[in-house]
Amino acid sequence: MLSAELNARLTQTGKDAPAGKMMRHYWQPAALVDELDGPRPVTPVRLLGEDLVLFRGEDGRLGLIGKHCPHRGVDLCFGRLEDGGLRCPFHGWLFDHEGKCLEQPAEPDGSRMHEQISHTAYPVVERGGMIWAYMGEGDPPPFPAFDCFEAPDTHVFAFKGFVECNWLQALEVGIDPAHASFLHRFLQDEDPADSYGKQFRATSAGADKPMTQILREYPRPEIQVEETAYGLRLTSLRDLDNQGMHVRVTNQVFPHGITIPMSPEMTITQWHVPVDDENCYWYAAFTSFTEPVDKAKMRAQRLELYEVPGYRPKINKANNYGFSPDEQRSETYLGMGLDINVHDQWAVESPGPVQDRTREHLGKSDIGIIAYRRLLRRAIDAAVAGGDMPALAADDPLRGPAAFDTITEQEGWQEEWKSRELARRDRSGWAKSPW
Ligand code: FES
Ligand SMILES: [Fe+2]
Repeated sequence: MLSAELNARLTQTGKDAPAGKMMRHYWQPAALVDELDGPRPVTPVRLLGEDLVLFRGEDGRLGLIGKHCPHRGVDLCFGRLEDGGLRCPFHGWLFDHEGKCLEQPAEPDGSRMHEQISHTAYPVVERGGMIWAYMGEGDPPPFPAFDCFEAPDTHVFAFKGFVECNWLQALEVGIDPAHASFLHRFLQDEDPADSYGKQFRATSAGADKPMTQILREYPRPEIQVEETAYGLRLTSLRDLDNQGMHVRVTNQVFPHGITIPMSPEMTITQWHVPVDDENCYWYAAFTSFTEPVDKAKMRAQRLELYEVPGYRPKINKANNYGFSPDEQRSETYLGMGLDINVHDQWAVESPGPVQDRTREHLGKSDIGIIAYRRLLRRAIDAAVAGGDMPALAADDPLRGPAAFDTITEQEGWQEEWKSRELARRDRSGWAKSPW
């Protein structure tokens, strides 16, 4: 349970808010590279409560600048991409990728007024199929060497989805390993089909039954949490009586990411990025340690379920997330179909735009959330007072993190999952040891 003041301090990310100052120390995913496809690579971006426009100039350079023209405020998303920048269609002011005003064609010949105009602009880079922005002061931090950024381009697919709630409650579902046994429970097990949202339907490495069955039969994991250079490692243990130990290793990647295993071959790294205080996007990088990914197929599968532009899910609050009482009786615990993304969408949105944490009651199974909030408070305090920020201090680039799901012998699981994870990395030919 939090006080209303602390809840606001942890959730609000506008420019002057404490958590907003904290967030601005880190790179933020601003768009998918796919969003700039097509003949006119210009797209609106709302990020941490700021309205921006992202464009790729004729020279190929990316710019992320304020959405409202500094002359008289019109929307630059309707600008003309020409002459090495983005030109406002109201009176022709031209801005480059750094927000410099290059021309003011309605001003008198020889006017130097344009030299005085400096428009909001943030540095951006392309990584892992996403465009990342740094919205803080000073130089951006080095980019982490996480697997999704180190993998060959052929092995990573990125996508995003709009969520109507504050970023923190979206993130807190990802660091709650207990919910998978309930929210995502399938009352019958199916073949691990190659379908969207198949996470938990694949088998664990070394298991003879689907993960869904394990999660259903063992709903009370022992959850261990350790602080790491990148954030937190969460290890969920399910002692399968005489049939071994189910070990599931997931991570919180500070400030708003998670890395989890999707299948023996693939991990998902997902960021929960504030659009503003009542909306967020998840950005996910699906990283394969074996075969290249079929990006066209993965994107087409997902676009059946999301509207573009905007990436809003078609199954959503307005249609009750497809809830069916019949299904809830006989097929799934929740009654909202087989796509776990729909389940999570309901779980994060139904508490309301910003969850009222003065009324929550955290238990022992919420240990990941409790540890994360401690880390978050520390980071916010450091951002306000000036101090070391988590996940930025290391001299070495941050690697991994290891995200793995396997069944081992009861004894020696601590070493066994790590050696299997290292073997997978060896086989990949590109993934380095995360330790
Ligand atoms: S409002 Fe943009 S140039 Fe006048
Ligand atoms: Fe979930």
